[in-house]
Amino acid sequence: MEFILDTADAEAVRDLSEVMTIAGVTTNPTIITRSGKTPEQVFSEMDAVLAPEQKLFMQTVATDYEGILADARKICSLRENMYVKIPVTHDGMRAIKQAKREGLGVLATAIYSPDQAFFAAMNGADYLAPYVNRMCNYGDGVQWVRELHTMLELNQLPSKICAASFKNGNQVHELMLAGVGAVTVAPDVVRAMLDHPGTKVAVEEFTSAWEAAFGRRTFA
Ligand code: E4P
Repeated sequence: MEFILDTADAEAVRDLSEVMTIAGVTTNPTIITRSGKTPEQVFSEMDAVLAPEQKLFMQTVATDYEGILADARKICSLRENMYVKIPVTHDGMRAIKQAKREGLGVLATAIYSPDQAFFAAMNGADYLAPYVNRMCNYGDGVQWVRELHTMLELNQLPSKICAASFKNGNQVHELMLAGVGAVTVAPDVVRAMLDHPGTKVAVEEFTSAWEAAFGRRTFA
């Protein structure tokens, strides 16, 4: 499974990459505009912190077929392991087909149902990003992604699910348990999953007992 960070914050990527195995970074237009940086700045900061094998995903902004393709070609020319995120509108679905004919790496995004994702998989998208938390406004987002996982397996479609739009670690946990191919998670949700107060307490108990017995807080 690939664990991806959903952020425009390069510092967070650097910090979390030191303690976790991160496959790449996803952004979207909202994440970039909220960062207060230009897309060029975000790209260059991410490119500097990511290893060449780590993937970077940036999203098209144009909404018409030709414009989406122009954005997609530009995005994919920026570096190796660069993927374009294309929303699954009608123009986007057409553009996904053409982008795949051109050999671009594609993530189909803004997915609100398993069926939309399935159609994008039939068009050859490499990744499918169902918006788990947003789907929960319409039904059980986690369950729908489990169903998508089964639909892809039964139909032998090779697209990888990159479940997105998580608001808590439990949603991520449920989909890791379901065996989806990838998740993209914001750094604050990742930190909430990574850190547990019990770990800190346990480590302090060990160290204090050691210090009381041997007068030092190191093994050696
Ligand atoms: C990632 O690829 C998506 O763009 C992102 O997870 C959407 O998340 P949001 O629902 O928090 O905007």
